[in-house]
Amino acid sequence: MRISVLTASDRCSRGEAEDKSGPLISEILADAETVCYRCVPDDRAAISSALIEMCDGFHSDVVFTTGGTGFAPRDVTPEATRDVIEREVPGIPEAIRAESLKITPKAMLSRAAAGIRGKTLIVNLPGSPKAVRESLAVVLPVLDHALETLSGVTLSCGKE
Ligand code: MTE
Repeated sequence: MRISVLTASDRCSRGEAEDKSGPLISEILADAETVCYRCVPDDRAAISSALIEMCDGFHSDVVFTTGGTGFAPRDVTPEATRDVIEREVPGIPEAIRAESLKITPKAMLSRAAAGIRGKTLIVNLPGSPKAVRESLAVVLPVLDHALETLSGVTLSCGKE
């Protein structure tokens, strides 16, 4: 699996804080190859152009973003994601929020989105390392099947 990781953070992009969440995603998905990692400011155009590069240039199977999903004025990761996806996948953020709500009511404050661009699945995750861990635990069990169906090779979906 080829993954890309995009951290959206003004402070990390300026070097004022260390990006712990982006590297954590690669660490958790150690069996996957991280083909591209970038940290950009909370800027809609910068996020969407990095996403396009990761999808169309690096041919990632999955792009995970972290950060910028909340209510702060500069939180625009979901908007930048919707700018570049062709088909929305509401079930993934719905499932993440539903499971995360069992851990913290603050989970309802994430506006994360997910969607498909070409053969790439883009999934927004919240910004904290804790939220990244909890959210990935929800997504990872279905990831292989999601990518199989996206590539068009699965013929037996739901027939077991
Ligand atoms: N989801 C999980 N699983 N665990 C968390 O601790 N934190 C929430 C939420 N989602 C959290 C979570 C908080 S406090 C916020 S403000 C939103 O994610 C948005 O985070 P972001 O702006 O860093 O993307």
